[in-house]
Amino acid sequence: MVTENGSVTMNALLEALAPGSEDLALARAIDAGRMPAHIAIIMDGNGRWAQQRNLPRVAGHKEGVPAVRTTVETCAQLGIGALTLYAFSVENWKRPRLEVDTLWRLLRVYLRSELALMMRHDIRFTALGRLGELPAHVRTELDDVTRKTSGNRGLRLNLAINYGGRAELVDAVKALVRDKVEVTEQAISARLYTAGQPDPDLLIRTSGEMRISNFLLWQIAYAELYVTETLWPDFTRVELLRAILDYQKRDRRYGGLGSSDAPELEPEPVSLPAR
Ligand code: FPP
Repeated sequence: MVTENGSVTMNALLEALAPGSEDLALARAIDAGRMPAHIAIIMDGNGRWAQQRNLPRVAGHKEGVPAVRTTVETCAQLGIGALTLYAFSVENWKRPRLEVDTLWRLLRVYLRSELALMMRHDIRFTALGRLGELPAHVRTELDDVTRKTSGNRGLRLNLAINYGGRAELVDAVKALVRDKVEVTEQAISARLYTAGQPDPDLLIRTSGEMRISNFLLWQIAYAELYVTETLWPDFTRVELLRAILDYQKRDRRYGGLGSSDAPELEPEPVSLPAR
């Protein structure tokens, strides 16, 4: 699915890229008619990026911010409907105080410096997670950007903060009980933090780990997975475009037979193979 202005923004991306660059070649290969409606990203590997350079872990988080900016801007230019970035999990509170405080400071700097980019690209910002448990100053910054971008109609940028997939399901079930409604898939989806948004079609994880890490457990039921060895601070526009191109090659089946036409055959007698 492409947003209403998808092909227009795609043209803007093609015009913005340098002639002869790899970005441009990859962007030209993308099929604007088969764009993922929603991309989710587990941004992993900041600590290892820093360790490899004998730097403190927080240096890796700092270096991760430009990768966030490029990813957000490129998704907006491609006409992607929604992008969800995993910035802080409910488990991340176990990290050293300095690291957690640095993440809040970076978030604050990011939100303040990127508001102009969000307005320029018509991006609507939302935070997902147990936001009531965040420090008041973080909450204020999040609320401010959420409010200022609420009228935008382009990319929906979801930042998962103090987020856990199980916590989200617990919150949804509590809401179901409170609302006294029949338990259906639609009723659960409507009570998730992502209510009203399409489920992710593509889940990208950097740094090579083959884990879901409690991210969007309900929503990624049919997402295509793309894992790259690249550490998050090194994740470039080229990497993002490669992931989208890879996604466009997949045959999505949703438990059926996909695009291959299955002929209607008469049922045959069934016997089990002998061992
Ligand atoms: C995981 O890497 C990354 C995080 C816990 C934080 C992600 C934060 C950023 C990308 C920068 C700030 C973001 C915004 C939106 C301003 P890790 O530390 O677990 O890496 P490791 O597995 O190599 O230790």
